[in-house]
This record gives sequence, C-alpha cells and structure tokens, in this order.
Amino acid sequence: MNRFLPCLVSVLLLGACARQEATVAPSATVDPSPRHLRIVWTEQPSTHAIVSWTTMSPTTKNVVHYDTVSRGGDVASYRSRVYASRNGTITLRAEDRKEGVPPGWYHHAEIDGLSPSTRVYMVVESDGVLTEERYFVTAPADDRPFKLLSGGDSRMGGEKPRYAGRTPHVDRRAMNRRMAELLEENPDLLAMVHGADWCTTADWRHLYWWFEDNELLQAADGRLLPFIVSRGNHDEGIGFQENFWLGDITDANSAAYYFTTLFNPQTALITLNTEISVAGDQLEFLEKQLAELRPAKRWLLVQYHRPAYPVAKDFNEHTFARVRQTWSPLFEKFNVDLVLESDGHVLKRTVPIRNNAFAADGIVYIGEGGLGVPQRQPRPNLWFVEPPGFAASAHHVWLLSFTAETLRMEAIGIDGAVLDSHSLSPRP
Ligand SMILES: [Fe+2]
Ligand SMILES: [Fe+2]
Repeated sequence: MNRFLPCLVSVLLLGACARQEATVAPSATVDPSPRHLRIVWTEQPSTHAIVSWTTMSPTTKNVVHYDTVSRGGDVASYRSRVYASRNGTITLRAEDRKEGVPPGWYHHAEIDGLSPSTRVYMVVESDGVLTEERYFVTAPADDRPFKLLSGGDSRMGGEKPRYAGRTPHVDRRAMNRRMAELLEENPDLLAMVHGADWCTTADWRHLYWWFEDNELLQAADGRLLPFIVSRGNHDEGIGFQENFWLGDITDANSAAYYFTTLFNPQTALITLNTEISVAGDQLEFLEKQLAELRPAKRWLLVQYHRPAYPVAKDFNEHTFARVRQTWSPLFEKFNVDLVLESDGHVLKRTVPIRNNAFAADGIVYIGEGGLGVPQRQPRPNLWFVEPPGFAASAHHVWLLSFTAETLRMEAIGIDGAVLDSHSLSPRP
C-alpha cells in the first residue's frame, strides 16, 4: 500500500470535517514519533557518538535516554539523557513535493563521556513518543581484535519498474539485510565505513527512502551498527548536511567532511572528501595526520569516494587522476596499510601499488561500491587488478578483521558468499 495514503486520507478527512463543522479547526497530521534512528561516529568512538533521527512533524522535546544496561524502554529508569542540539526542517524541493514525500524534521544529539567497549542502551523521545530500545557498542580503548564493514554506493538497486531511485530498492534492501546478518554473526563488528553516494541525490525524496531501508540494518536483539560518514558526488545537496551532521567537524566547516577516526589505540582511519579540493587545506590535513599517525599506529587506513585506481571508469579522467597524483604519493610516503574507495559500482582489490606500478610493499586499494547500485563490468586488461589482484561485477561489502598479526579483508556478496579474500601483515 502507498505509505502516504493514511496521511493523505487524514488530511482529506480533516478538510471535510472543517467544511461541515465550523468549530473544528483544520490542522495538519501530527506525527512526532521518532524514526530513522542511526548512530554516527566521528573522531573518538570509544567515548563519543552522535544519535540522529527524523520526525514527520516539528517537535519541541527531542531527547536520548541512555544507560549501560537495558531498561526495556522504561524511560524514567535510564540513568542519563541528552537533548538534541541540532533540530531543523529538512529542505523540500519542488520534486520532493511533486513526488508526495512527507515533510521531515532532523534531530541530532551528541553523547559524550561514554566508556570504551560498552553497550549503550537507549530510547529516543520526541514530544513524548518513544522509539523501542536499541543499543550500540562503543569502540575499545585496548588492543582487542575487532572488525569493520566497508562499502559504498547504496543509492538504488534492482527493482526496474521503480528504477528512479525513489522507492524501496530490492538490492539495497538485500545488502542491508546481509549487513544485519554480518552484525549478528560478528559480535566484534564495530562500525560501517560508508564510502558515499548514499542516494541518487541528497534531496529528501531519496534520503527518506534510504533511511527507511536502513531500518533493516540492525540485529534482531536491537543492536545498531554505527556509521563513519563520507561524502560523494551524489551527496552534494543541502540535505546531506542537514541529515549527516558531524558535530564540531561540520560546525567548523560545513563542507569539509574530512577527519580521523581512532578505532582503538593501534588503528586509525582517515576519511577524506573527493568532492572538494584534494589540495589546499585538505592536503595539509592529510599530510599532518599521516605524519603523526604512521609511527604510532599498527593499522592506518584511508577512505574516500572517487577512486585513484578506477576499475570501471576512465583511468585518465581528471576526477581520478587528481586523487592518484595528489594523495597516492602521500599514501606511499607514509606506507598506508589499506585504502577504501567507492564510486565505480564494481568489486576490486588492487595489487600493492607504488609509483603507479606493482610493488610488494605498495598500497592496496579495495572497493569500489556495491551496496545496491547496479554493478558495472571491470574494464579488461587492467594491470592493477590482474592476479594476484581481483575484479568482478558483484554487489558486495568488505568485512575487515583486525588483529595484532593480520588485517584480513573479505568481500561478502549479496547472498553471503565470500567473493574475494586477502590478508595484510603489519608494516615492518
Ligand atoms: Fe560516485
Ligand atoms: Fe556511485
């Protein structure tokens, strides 16, 4: 059934009542129930998280009630609460209205002072209406093994008659269910590193459905998988900033979306933004971070959207060449362990690369976006994905397993099959 039908019916009924009974004032449908609940991690996920959600009407009281033990949704018994510090109307464009997507309001609350490796149980409240209890687990402060998911390009997928990127998407939903299963099978899975192109555009008619589909990405026991957010070429609209607020990072520069995440004392991920200048301030940030982090960390990763080593698109196109020419020399200088790329709609793992050629101690790039968007064919005869590298046309998400001895990467297909696997040892 069309999910907007009940709203439409109530609006029509209210209109009809108002005509018949002058004492009943017409009013819009009020739905303060919090939905689209999600967790965003930025720099210090062992102690800090951002909780974000949507309401379908404006609300005045927006609060996260949380505790380190389950309180079963009994709102008064949660030990801590924090009010949303960012609330606002999600921008609606003419196309959004035309399509009938309901207006939405965004809410973001920051939780600080959390304990590492701890369950955070929470309910979210907007104007007295509560979500069910959900929980996430904070990042560790010690060197225990852990896992991450890495993937991108979740903007559409599959259902041909509804192919415009607006309605629930079969392949995207299947990948969300796959990731939920991975979350259930891997208690030490910490977070999802999203390589962007979340939606066809960052307009509400696309983001709304992305958030609806994202409700599938949770474990049966209510566990949520926090996101590390990056920005792609399909994410340029104002709706992205409204719905993916990164606290201090986007407050300081609303277009930046580059920062470093410390997953544990030995593992850092630098998120970069290929949709702004790859030189200038961002390049300075990258070089400074690499210089500080490389000697201190066992595992040093970088993620961003547009690939340095595209497998489906034109290798010499400026968009990719500027990443390869500007950032790759720094990855090589500082011996980054692994680079996570998206945008190509293809599965790839490059051979280790240095100076644009195979080198045993070079940089491995994996990707390249397969969370529901239709997959392309890898171009033939690409030296950087020939064996022992790998390329294929298949939906996928990468499962990254970190221990003191090994960083193991496995490409998990839409049906759960392991499509490719490879392991790295720490740099000497
Ligand atoms: Fe892209
Ligand atoms: Fe894409």
